[in-house]
Amino acid sequence: MTELKRHMGLFHLVMYGVGLIVGAGIYVLIGEAAGLAGNAVWVSFVLSGMVAAFAGLSYAELTSMFPRAAAEYVFVKNALRSNFIGFIVGWLTSITSMITAATVALGFGGYFAQFLSLPITISAVLLLIGLSVINFFGIRESAWANTIFTIITISGLAIVIYLGFTFTDVKQIDYFEAPFGFSGIILAFVLIFFAFIGFEDMANVAEEVRNPKRTLPRGIILAIIFTSLIYILVSLASIRILGWQDLGESSAPLADVAGRVLGDSGQKFLSGIALFATASTVLITLIAGARMLYGMSRDGSLPHLLGRIHFKTNTPWIAVVVIMVASIGFAFIGDIVLVANIVVFAVVITFAMINLSVIVLRYTEPDMERPFKAPLNIGRFPVLALFGLIASIYMGLQFEIPVIGVGVGIIGAGVVFYFAYHRYIKKL
Ligand code: ALA
Repeated sequence: MTELKRHMGLFHLVMYGVGLIVGAGIYVLIGEAAGLAGNAVWVSFVLSGMVAAFAGLSYAELTSMFPRAAAEYVFVKNALRSNFIGFIVGWLTSITSMITAATVALGFGGYFAQFLSLPITISAVLLLIGLSVINFFGIRESAWANTIFTIITISGLAIVIYLGFTFTDVKQIDYFEAPFGFSGIILAFVLIFFAFIGFEDMANVAEEVRNPKRTLPRGIILAIIFTSLIYILVSLASIRILGWQDLGESSAPLADVAGRVLGDSGQKFLSGIALFATASTVLITLIAGARMLYGMSRDGSLPHLLGRIHFKTNTPWIAVVVIMVASIGFAFIGDIVLVANIVVFAVVITFAMINLSVIVLRYTEPDMERPFKAPLNIGRFPVLALFGLIASIYMGLQFEIPVIGVGVGIIGAGVVFYFAYHRYIKKL
């Protein structure tokens, strides 16, 4: 890969976003989600897409106002006029990227087992180490390389969609069959929201986008619409071919979908694409995570140590190592559904704050220029940001105690760090 391009246009930006978004969620968690929601799993995708769109519109409005890297931290700090809350949200976002890398790496492990019988956790850890080494040597995603990766990832999904809609051996299917009722659909919706995460990181490349105030909001919205459509079609196609029971039991669901129609070679082919899709998502997530730690350290809200650049490779190597070690730690949890849920929990808290920030800023900074303004307003009041806020809180309440426990633990660690840092270690 070559040097990062400094001037992404709309097309590259949308591809970058889709590359960030599409990964283990659709390739792996669609199985678990189908087990919870039944044939109606597509409804869960529709709900997730809607909540992502609400948050996406809020991100779009905020990035058009403050197009800068370390986005969440900047938005919340400005809206709520609190360094502390801004820091906590930035902290949560950084830790989330570490857990996301772990989750997607576990998804990689599930597909890798189709080729070599290694335990999933071991493959995940090896992948995290390998990609961190690449990250250390200064590979930064060039817009074109990322576009090619994304096209390969999407083509795997396009194959599934094509197979689904040309598949003739179908019994009567009730697309609303939900074995665990509405609550199953909701649990799947919350889990599958993981598949949409990533668009928020698009704001972090604000400094590399041409005409960011116009391009970023459009790019974010287009990337969400594009992935939502693909996901909904993939879920319908997978249900048509495999049905929710078989999907729910598979650890390589889309490969099994292809295998049912095309046989063994089809299954292997799709597993290969899935390895690619998950590995490239892990790489981008590790890079984005390192960039965020570096940005926060430059801003003085994390120790300067984390911003230290290696004299040979020119990369923030301490940030790279910290992210690697932390994500390996999370990978050892081993249970992909649990880690994915932890990520979604942390993300919905962040999204709640982002939606709240949009509402607050409409009143505290009414005259600030907004090249992009979220649609549907009553006077100044942004209705969709309110929907997003309510949906995020509702989602946050759906999790089980262990997930909430880990999430609260991460926030608590951030609070302790914030005060210890400002009191004792700011000089590091
Ligand atoms: N949305 C990303 C994925 O599904 C995190 O892998």
